[in-house]
Amino acid sequence: MSDKHVLDRRSIPTIQIHDTPDEVASAAAEQVQRQLKRRADSVFALPTGQTPLSLYAELARRCRDGELSFSEARTFNLDEFVHIPPDSPLSFESYMVHHLFSHIDIDLTKARLPNGNAPDLHAECREYERAIAATGGIDLAIVGIGRNGHLAFNEPGTSFTSRTHVVQLSPTSREAFASEFGGIDRVPKLGITVGLGTILEARRIILLALGPDKAAIIARALQGPITVDVPATILQQHPNVLVILDRSAASRLHLAS
Ligand code: PGA
Repeated sequence: MSDKHVLDRRSIPTIQIHDTPDEVASAAAEQVQRQLKRRADSVFALPTGQTPLSLYAELARRCRDGELSFSEARTFNLDEFVHIPPDSPLSFESYMVHHLFSHIDIDLTKARLPNGNAPDLHAECREYERAIAATGGIDLAIVGIGRNGHLAFNEPGTSFTSRTHVVQLSPTSREAFASEFGGIDRVPKLGITVGLGTILEARRIILLALGPDKAAIIARALQGPITVDVPATILQQHPNVLVILDRSAASRLHLAS
């Protein structure tokens, strides 16, 4: 393979490295605020997990202080468990209400998550894709990364062209939820996730990662070979990715001095 070919298929993401998680949150909030200023009815794809918690707290603060408004924004969450009641504290829907939606001025009819309790899950996946497309597409997707390189619930081996689909959660992903659910055996085995193809179609993507546990996978995702074994390597094929890290998550990257 010629060097030229390699250069053609890889984009170098912009990487910001901050001293503290709070600075990561503020840098990411700044990007959201700019996006809303550009277009009040922007379409966001949103993650759950530990990583975005301080971002959501910062967005709530900025909304409360009148620095930004989500009143016209539309949001699509990246994933949800299958067969966890939406009002269970363990659902991603509850997470979003608790950590973000109840603190901002968003119109809740415009804030969607995949419905993991739909009678026909495959029809729900098609409808979710249709709803995203009907908005004109995602302006800004904010994603975290799993220690196995998953993006949303797209586990290693997922096709780069996948659309919203039902997924069998990997042991690594289920393990990450074991303490919340009171044991890995109680963690759902299935989820719904937007696909890697869906994420790659977003106009801009922000990848957030914090802490030393993410250092190895961040280095593989951003500087390793592009492979379905590490779903996040797909980000190297997107022309507009901003990676926002704290120092420990960035510690294994090879950075030009
Ligand atoms: P975390 O999860 O933010 O809780 O580390 C990220 C992910 O698994 O995508």
